[in-house]
Amino acid sequence: MDSKETADEFKGKLEMMFSGAFSCLKIMTGLEVGLFEVLSQFTEPKSYVEIADAGKLKPRYNQCTEEDRSTVYLYGRKFHGVSPEQYIDFASHMSKVSALSVDHHLITYIEQIDGLTDMLDAGAKVLDLACGTGHTTIVMAERFPKSTFIGGDFMPKQLDVGREMMKERHLSNVTLQQLDVENLPMEWTASFDFILCHYAVHDLGNPEKGLQEFHRVLKASGFGLIVDVNLHSKHSDNKQNHFSNIEYGFSESHCLPASLWFEGGWGLGVGWGVEYATDFIGSCGFEVKMIENGHTVSYIIRKRNH
Ligand SMILES: C[S@@+](CC[C@H](N)C(=O)[O-])C[C@H]1O[C@@H](n2cnc3c(N)ncnc32)[C@H](O)[C@@H]1O
Repeated sequence: MDSKETADEFKGKLEMMFSGAFSCLKIMTGLEVGLFEVLSQFTEPKSYVEIADAGKLKPRYNQCTEEDRSTVYLYGRKFHGVSPEQYIDFASHMSKVSALSVDHHLITYIEQIDGLTDMLDAGAKVLDLACGTGHTTIVMAERFPKSTFIGGDFMPKQLDVGREMMKERHLSNVTLQQLDVENLPMEWTASFDFILCHYAVHDLGNPEKGLQEFHRVLKASGFGLIVDVNLHSKHSDNKQNHFSNIEYGFSESHCLPASLWFEGGWGLGVGWGVEYATDFIGSCGFEVKMIENGHTVSYIIRKRNH
């Protein structure tokens, strides 16, 4: 750090360096899948579908309506995405990222929901969907000892990391279990007072199925909280936000290929954006209130006509 630099200037410089590194990765991916050769054949502007067809690439977001959304991730992965299990270091990486952000913010986000803190203080039944290593589950369980928590994810290795954390912290109000968010146990219908899904809806193979299950297992009087990245759905609206390039880069390296790996995977990625997310979550039977918190966004949801 230059002695004349302010902390904010230094932070900005670091962000630009990260952003540049992700641009390099994206250019390398483009080279690897032949994107630039395909583009060089065109003399006129083409849609993402035409470019994908010409390069035999996978046009993601083909289930969404807005063409603009597809341009950044056009190359995605050439064939079928990448199995989540192939990301061998993902559990420890995500756990560190979660520790940095969740420890500071999660309880604040919960406190933004009228009536929820009282409910959790009194003792409620909570589900943390796609909890990864369960860092979020554990932070909530420590803060609300009278409530009981189930954290679920389909990656056993991540849950094992969480179980170690639980032991270290002597927590008895948490269970971490392997499950598929898109096929939750039938006996869970209408049984949770609060459901969290932290940075994971965009990773699901079929987010619609995941949200339908979320809706089914939430009590009529219950609260839901979906936390995600704060970006606009239309990529060009994020031009001024240089953090978006970092988010897209991270998403292109993990979220997108992991979701596309599933048969018919949607590949939303973090760039699904607040406008589309609000409409989509609403279309799954929820009332949605969106709160922006810097780089993250909270979707506070309740069952419609509760
Ligand atoms: C970006 S991580 C977020 C983990 C955690 N919520 C956090 O914030 O640290 C996304 C998680 O979704 C999980 N996941 C994706 N699809 C799933 C599914 N159908 N069922 C259960 N877990 C799933 C992955 O295994 C991964 O742990």
